[in-house]
Amino acid sequence: MRIVLLGSQGQVGWELQRALAPLGEVIALTRNGEPTADLAQPRALAAHVRSLAPQVIVNAAAYTAVDKAESEPALAHEINAASPGALAEVAVELDAWLVHYSTDYVFDGSGSAARDEDSRTGPLGVYGRTKLEGEERVRASGCRHLILRTSWVHGTRGGNFARTMLRLAAERDRLTVVDDQVGAPTGADLLADVTAHVLRSAWRRPSLAGTYHAVASGETSWHGYACLVVEWARSHGHAVKVPAGAIEAVPSTAFPTPARRPLNSRLSTNRLRQTFDLEMPPWQHGVERMLAEVLGQ
Ligand SMILES: NC(=O)c1ccc[n+]([C@@H]2O[C@H](COP(=O)([O-])OP(=O)(O)OC[C@H]3O[C@@H](n4cnc5c(N)ncnc54)[C@H](OP(=O)(O)O)[C@@H]3O)[C@@H](O)[C@H]2O)c1
Repeated sequence: MRIVLLGSQGQVGWELQRALAPLGEVIALTRNGEPTADLAQPRALAAHVRSLAPQVIVNAAAYTAVDKAESEPALAHEINAASPGALAEVAVELDAWLVHYSTDYVFDGSGSAARDEDSRTGPLGVYGRTKLEGEERVRASGCRHLILRTSWVHGTRGGNFARTMLRLAAERDRLTVVDDQVGAPTGADLLADVTAHVLRSAWRRPSLAGTYHAVASGETSWHGYACLVVEWARSHGHAVKVPAGAIEAVPSTAFPTPARRPLNSRLSTNRLRQTFDLEMPPWQHGVERMLAEVLGQ
């Protein structure tokens, strides 16, 4: 397989470089490379990718700054919607596969039921709307595709919620974290490994193309997630100033943000697990593994 990977320096893209390597040649592109692979310029991007004649395009690049997207809707649209559409057209021309990632933010987060792939969408902000349009453009193109919707991604590279909590817990004796948003923290490493399994199967059986939810199993709130992170750090001898049990749970309204977040980010992985015969490990496993890596245990 000749694979072109976009967003190779992001949380998921970094892990994909590792996970896709056994499948074939991986050409990892970055926006600062030469020539540039800039998703803010869909036509130039498409020409560049076309010239590389991939059999598989994996797009892990995205405009992921959820709040900033509210004030940069045009840029978020180019990166999250127009470029995936342009990549899908290249995939059609080359008869290539397109692997693309999307998000729980395509849903409105109402109720408490887990969404499946056919559930009604209803994004609450610019990020979710542009990601949904990206998905729709990929599906409408008719290219052979795999769209993996995930949530609450953590990795060993870049900033993430767990790292922010570790820093704050070392500095402060009191922490407040929202407890009315529920979802599944999902490791970039897990998502990358799942991608490799799914791609390999779909490569052999193109009828498996489609949209799938790919998240770790179980669920928690940001508050529950923070408690696990801080207690893990404490029990492994790291500097933690906040006393045990002193992380205060507050509603989302306590932290107003430019973008509204879905309260219910539960995604059902039944389709993924049944179609590809996969198990999704509990979210705690991935978080503890990531903590061990970043804290050097
Ligand atoms: N993070 C989450 O919690 C989350 C949740 C649900 C779904 N997802 C989805 O999962 C996928 C991977 O997300 P992630 O967490 O790995 O994101 P990330 O760590 O923010 O990485 C995004 C990558 O996209 C690249 N990028 C941004 N703008 C670009 C542009 N104009 N041209 C080229 N590259 C550009 C970034 O490049 P630089 O390194 O140069 O900035 C970075 O490598 C995305 O589709 C995202 O929407 C993420």
